[in-house]
Amino acid sequence: MSVKNQLIKERLPEHVAIIMDGNGRWAKKRGNSRVFGHRSGVKAVRAVLEAAGELEIGYITLYAFSTENWKRPKLEVDALMALLVSTITSETKTFMKNNVRLSVIGCIDTLPKEVKRKLVECIEKTSQNSGLTLNLAISYSARWEITDAVKKIAEQVKNNELDVDAIDAETISNNLTTANIPDPELMIRTSGELRISNFLLWQLAYAELYFCDTLWPDFQKEDFYEALMDFQSRERRFGKTSEQLKK
Ligand code: FPP
Repeated sequence: MSVKNQLIKERLPEHVAIIMDGNGRWAKKRGNSRVFGHRSGVKAVRAVLEAAGELEIGYITLYAFSTENWKRPKLEVDALMALLVSTITSETKTFMKNNVRLSVIGCIDTLPKEVKRKLVECIEKTSQNSGLTLNLAISYSARWEITDAVKKIAEQVKNNELDVDAIDAETISNNLTTANIPDPELMIRTSGELRISNFLLWQLAYAELYFCDTLWPDFQKEDFYEALMDFQSRERRFGKTSEQLKK
């Protein structure tokens, strides 16, 4: 039986977050530029979106560009920005056909005007779609996001809209960029790196972490199914004991 057919539909995650890593190494191995690696990574994005759509997974969050990625050589940053614009432009039709809704988390005010304009245009165009939500983390880092949430909460306290004693975990969640999205139950990172790299630090508190050696441009539907199979083999205890879960 194929891996896909072994998956238990009722136990699929509602939200999968992915660190798409290894584009540079993939390209280098082929004697090509890092940018070639990023371009080649787009087909892996399509594969994951298709697979997630077929399985009726609700949300996919992709770490497309971190706050720290601005420190990369200008040539690479420019190429990544151009790739975002061209991919969003060319994929909007497919999003409409497949009922995919685009959303973005991150400090989008730091993005070049054209990138921001294209993203906002696609977000608006796909806003009524009710299938998979593709959530792109762009110019995103969890420390930036948490700092921003703290500022928003402090402002509410200052304006007497919120009592300090009323602040709880939900207050924090509600002030993050993912306020309307369930926390990811599964986080996948490709390329063999075993780090979270400032990605969704609050939201991943109880996520299952899955690391594989595949470099992102080689990541295919089968790799995604493997990650989901692994997820389904885990016992998610949320601090309880195994015995308590069996009751
Ligand atoms: C990390 O690999 C990858 C990125 C920083 C960019 C990922 C972006 C894409 C695949 C384009 C996706 C486009 C859309 C619209 C979602 P790396 O460069 O750090 O690889 P390395 O660790 O091998 O150097």
